[in-house]
Amino acid sequence: MKTLLAVILSGITMVCTAAVDEKRAEANYMLNCQGCHQGDGSGLPGSVPNMQNFVGQFIGVPGGREFLVQVPGSANAPLNDEALAELLNWILLTKSKKELPADFVLYTATEVSAVRSKTLPDVAAARKAIVKKFVKQQ
Ligand code: HEC
Repeated sequence: MKTLLAVILSGITMVCTAAVDEKRAEANYMLNCQGCHQGDGSGLPGSVPNMQNFVGQFIGVPGGREFLVQVPGSANAPLNDEALAELLNWILLTKSKKELPADFVLYTATEVSAVRSKTLPDVAAARKAIVKKFVKQQ
């Protein structure tokens, strides 16, 4: 019985860790995002927002989780839903883990696919309304 439980548990762990292939996510970030967001996620002052110790806050407020998928840099990236889910998970876990809510669940391809095509009519306004609810501003 104990062995069976161990097998099941290790199976679950494998499924969970498989959701973020760090090397692949980092490569996709370098190819598609780094030009604007910079390698460390610090962005470009005045034009591209910093992600470091910040972007995780989107997950904890209404609309924020969808926003991270729908923002043009994400939604229009030449990546399939699975790769985008993985990349967003990697960004959140490597750049802003502390700011994630305790009950954070990883993005999945299914979730990304459901919200990705709903284009934001006004990105700046949507972002402003969400960021207003953050504890930490920048
Ligand atoms: C051409 C520059 C550019 C590229 C390339 C780019 N982004 Fe962005 N990104 C921005 C800007 C500017 C914002 C702020 C919102 C807006 O105006 O789109 C942003 C915002 C974001 C946000 C929300 C964080 C916040 O504070 O608003 C996420 C998540 C994000 N980008 C992910 C990505 C991912 C993932 C990629 C690569 C697949 C990427 N971006 C590529 C410019 C870029």
